Amino acid sequence: PLAVLATALLTGCQQAQQGLSIGDMSSAFNREIAWMSIWAVALSIIIFLGVSFALFYTVQKFREDKHDAPPAQFHGNNKLEVWLVAVPVVIVIFLSVLTVRSMAILNPTPDQATKIDVLAKQFWWNFEYPTIKADAGGNVANGNEMLMPTKQPVALTVTSGDVIHGFWAPNIGGQRAAMPAVKKTWQVDTDRAGVYQGNCSQLCGASHANMRYKVVALEQARYDATLAAMKAYRAPEPAAGSPEALGYQLFMQGKPETKAASCAGCHRIQGTPAAGVVGPDLSFFGTRRTLGAGMWEGEKAREMLIPWLKHAPHVKPGALMPTYDGSEYRANGKLQKGGVLTDEEINALAAYLRSLKLPEEADYWRDVP
Ligand code: CUA
Repeated sequence: PLAVLATALLTGCQQAQQGLSIGDMSSAFNREIAWMSIWAVALSIIIFLGVSFALFYTVQKFREDKHDAPPAQFHGNNKLEVWLVAVPVVIVIFLSVLTVRSMAILNPTPDQATKIDVLAKQFWWNFEYPTIKADAGGNVANGNEMLMPTKQPVALTVTSGDVIHGFWAPNIGGQRAAMPAVKKTWQVDTDRAGVYQGNCSQLCGASHANMRYKVVALEQARYDATLAAMKAYRAPEPAAGSPEALGYQLFMQGKPETKAASCAGCHRIQGTPAAGVVGPDLSFFGTRRTLGAGMWEGEKAREMLIPWLKHAPHVKPGALMPTYDGSEYRANGKLQKGGVLTDEEINALAAYLRSLKLPEEADYWRDVP
């Protein structure tokens, strides 16, 4: 147990800076688990010392060279046996009570908690706010970047659209398997506003390691304002003749003459006819700072958008998005050939996607360096 604790603390310290630490005590969930672990470790240490003492005492006291004859032999000792059973039973009961108590505390409190539905798919995440109906229709949702308020329980309901994935954002507490056809709800929380890392924790295919997300925790007032802006959001209508307008048209209709599939068949953009649920929600794509489910961030994410649109499966193994430069790719075990868009058309799509922005004051990345 000591080795485990030491390892946990060390990795915790190393990873704290990346926002990936089970030792983050700003989460009540993590405090509860830490408190339980301290009890378990303390009991283990006491037992370890007790057994070690008994062993060394016996070895020392009954050394052969100290005695001429073997010590007195006896069989059975009812008193000792009762103790040997009773003490472990008491310890197990004590630890069980602690566990059940923590489970009760950490159980979701659906009435007051903020609710977020988490969908895991190969190889990305969608975060939907089932209680926040967008003015333009549908629920507010965001792909690969989860917003949550600080200082209150957040009830996450996790499921998978294909294989088993694992939701793991250790700073806000807990880890849950995301399983197809199963919905699991539990609560997470943090006291501290900031950005935390989330990873898929269940080996799920070629891009398991590229299935990441960001958790952006905002102070209550700012969270409310941001979600209100998301609720009111409608994707901007591009000016006629602009690259964005061409991008919009390609997004909605694709280009049938070169077999380029429409994006709208798979993706949703709030306030437009695009309502696809096969891929992540792109409503706030221009505000997002990551690309490819956390594969790239910031400037790099911006740079990678063009290669991404041309041939996502070549830059992210196993990505199910088709190619748009006509190159071959493998999806669901079959070799496929993508449609073709010109460089101008790819640039227009990128311009349109970048225009999908929340108003400045609702940019949840605003204060993040
Ligand atoms: Cu999804 Cu690993």
